[in-house]
Amino acid sequence: MEAITSIPEIRQKVRALKQEGKSVAFVPTMGALHEGHLSLFRLAKEHADEVVVSIYVNPEQFAPDEDFEEYPRALDDDLKKCEEEGMAAVFAPSDKIMYPGEQFLSIEIDELNEYMDGSSRPGFFEGILLVVNKLFNIIDPDIAVFGQKDVQQFRILQTMVDEFNHDVELLMGPIKRANDGLALSSRNAYLNDEQRKLAPGLYRSLRYVAKQIDDGAKNVDLLVEHQKNELEAKGFKIDYLNVFSFEKMMPVQDLKKDSKYILAGAVYLGETRLIDNLIIEK
Ligand code: PAJ
Repeated sequence: MEAITSIPEIRQKVRALKQEGKSVAFVPTMGALHEGHLSLFRLAKEHADEVVVSIYVNPEQFAPDEDFEEYPRALDDDLKKCEEEGMAAVFAPSDKIMYPGEQFLSIEIDELNEYMDGSSRPGFFEGILLVVNKLFNIIDPDIAVFGQKDVQQFRILQTMVDEFNHDVELLMGPIKRANDGLALSSRNAYLNDEQRKLAPGLYRSLRYVAKQIDDGAKNVDLLVEHQKNELEAKGFKIDYLNVFSFEKMMPVQDLKKDSKYILAGAVYLGETRLIDNLIIEK
């Protein structure tokens, strides 16, 4: 399987599929594909006749001090996996194609990026909106699939689709985990053996808090503080760990009945940033 690098060519490919009467799902990725990505390909396949994947490490969503240069790239391997999964096409453009000149326009975000990854990574979600907006206009899919692993990304993209009337239905796939509970991520490759052993601690903490909430614990702050201390004692550096509203992703103290929440954490092991979350429905 070969990657398609030009915009007219991928447009032509998708149009041809649609002309055959086929529905097209789209899964955007930054490559270094793992089982988490593949689970989204399979979910996409359940909901559409054909699936198109993009592989593009988007420079606009990396801050200058982040890991754009080191981010794992494995195009040949990725193409093999896409072929094995029966993907209809892979769009893997160059920076020149995605950002041919100076970029004069951007999409601003209000409120939805004030907490969680939005507060820790300024410009991150604006960079994601920019590239996914471009990709939606290039691919023009019927359905697009994203992972719960990046739940704030999903919520902000859903808002873009709603507010800008993108004619696409978004689906959210569950988090795929290693046997010990660690959420799969391309960045797990940065962990050394000792860090890799510690890493599932984040998921265990989230599970513990979720269980306490389920059992009727009321004081979210206390619960969360306790878990932060536990994680710190094990060697994690905490970026955030809290319960947020599902709609606006704002921190909440009092959990109400019939409401949906995100229990989310971001931690560092050495230089490596890990994120994970659970959705809580009261
Ligand atoms: P990337 O990190 O490659 O992730 C691509 C998709 O895979 C995202 O929707 C992400 O949520 C999902 N994913 C990652 N790990 C997962 C796991 N363990 N289980 C299930 N799904 C998982 O997210 C991006 O790329 C970029 O921001 C992108 C949307 C491509 C825009 O550049």
